[in-house]
Amino acid sequence: MKRAAAAAILSLACASGVAATNTDRAVVEARQASMKAMAGAARTIAEMFNGKVAYDPGAFRAAAETIRSHTGALGTEFPSASLGSPSGAKLEIDQARPEFDALAAHIASLADVLAADAARAPNDITADMRMGPGMVMGGGSLLGKRPGAVEIAPAKLPAEHVLHLILQDCSSCHSKFRQQ
Ligand code: HEC
Repeated sequence: MKRAAAAAILSLACASGVAATNTDRAVVEARQASMKAMAGAARTIAEMFNGKVAYDPGAFRAAAETIRSHTGALGTEFPSASLGSPSGAKLEIDQARPEFDALAAHIASLADVLAADAARAPNDITADMRMGPGMVMGGGSLLGKRPGAVEIAPAKLPAEHVLHLILQDCSSCHSKFRQQ
């Protein structure tokens, strides 16, 4: 009975064009696991910077490496057939591939910088790793949209600032391409 009901739901889903093959499900589960791993790693690093957990350079390195490896794979984790319900990936991804891919490439390049920062992280958090008071996010940020504002290469920014830029990319992509 249960099986028949499930089969009926599945065939309905297929009839309405929703991806529901085992392969697609595996793709969705893999990318959701990947997203969760990034979220956990980003939280770990944020908590080390805000003092909620003790700073540990090894844990910083491992977490930054987790973000680096998963952001590097983002571009291939959203094939057309895997988009839409029941996953949280919007069908719009397909109509906006260049934008989606640009976001994936942008976060991956920031994650490379953070991993490089972490690879040479000292045993204690130093002042040059921290975001300074002038580095507010948003309109007045160093990377803000003011005309004539100087763009600072991420490699020159403190690690904490790079983390914030990464988190902004997570949010930008979610607000546009993830079903809320
Ligand atoms: C280029 C776009 C993009 C970027 C960048 C991105 N995400 Fe996502 N994320 C998505 C989409 C789309 C989904 C929905 C995936 C699905 O349900 O199949 C998602 C889902 C998630 C989920 C829910 C996973 C689940 O179990 O359903 C979490 C948590 C998450 N992202 C965290 C992050 C974090 C943290 C970052 C940044 C380090 C990030 N994401 C960067 C597009 C992105």
